Amino acid sequence: MSDRVINPTQQRTDTAFDATLRPTSLTDYIGQQHLKDNLAVFLGAARQRNEVIEHVLLHGGPGLGKTTLAHIVAKEMNVNIRVTSGAAIERAGDLAAILTNLGEGDILFIDEIHRLPRTIEEVLYPAMEDYALDVIIGKGPSARTLRLDLPHFTIIGATTRVSLLSAPLRDRFGVQYKLEFYTPEEMTQIVKRSAQLLQLQLAAPALTIIASRARSTPRIANRLLKRVRDYAQVNDSAADMISDTITDQALQLLNIDQLGLDAVDRKLLTTIIENFRGGPVGIQTLAATIGEDIAALETVYEPFLLQIGFLTRTPRGRMATEAAYRHLNRPVPTDLQSRLL
Ligand code: ADE
Repeated sequence: MSDRVINPTQQRTDTAFDATLRPTSLTDYIGQQHLKDNLAVFLGAARQRNEVIEHVLLHGGPGLGKTTLAHIVAKEMNVNIRVTSGAAIERAGDLAAILTNLGEGDILFIDEIHRLPRTIEEVLYPAMEDYALDVIIGKGPSARTLRLDLPHFTIIGATTRVSLLSAPLRDRFGVQYKLEFYTPEEMTQIVKRSAQLLQLQLAAPALTIIASRARSTPRIANRLLKRVRDYAQVNDSAADMISDTITDQALQLLNIDQLGLDAVDRKLLTTIIENFRGGPVGIQTLAATIGEDIAALETVYEPFLLQIGFLTRTPRGRMATEAAYRHLNRPVPTDLQSRLL
């Protein structure tokens, strides 16, 4: 089995995406129980029938485990996985080169599939439906279409922005799963597992601190764990265990507060509170004011702030909630409730 990145420029540079921490089987994978239950049935049935699995779409926020799950599916089905990204496929020829090199049963993982150009999507439809590639030969009146047969393969598409996918593309995925935020218990288990794999001794409260400040997201938890390891190594190397005090200090140095909010989260909320009297304010205005791009606000920052109830969406824009005012130690305006309506 090989695990090749088709376009090396699209390789993940995220060091937190560490092969040693990534679970490699469904049994090792903590959380997303509903998804795992469904996936186990889907894979088990395909295995029994000896069939190639249908195309799968995984959607959900960054760092929740879409790529990890795609690799697990390949391993559970004992097939090769080829990895690419929607942004890396610019021309129909790029896609044709990838598809014609696939073997029977192989999985093609397309990360950020919402970034696939529309012209490429059209080449993908017959490939997904009929395992065929229509190649146009020649130009003008003498142009002909040649249909090439492809091996039976599976696309696993992953996206943080499912609403940007065209309806026809979305419809071609027989199986669609949404990844949710992880519960506090799941987060603690994940940090515990990662600490064991990294051979780190962490006091129980230190585990809880990392788990509770990782925005319900495993990738962030693993990243924080590594930064805590660095901090402990430099500042408390004699200790046989990483304490909660050291963990707290390490996270303070990273500007991560008690709830896991970072500098950008706080800037977003204080901007709404100070510049826009708590809102409502449109996402474009907000993005321009704090100097972040809209996509980052919508996929990285907002979902967590909405989840913890610090932000609400109204038809007229985003608003900071009473909980956000309290967390940031700001007096709550008396008319805030009426503006929330
Ligand atoms: N590491 C990152 N995500 C994980 C998960 N869902 N389960 C176990 N370990 C993980």
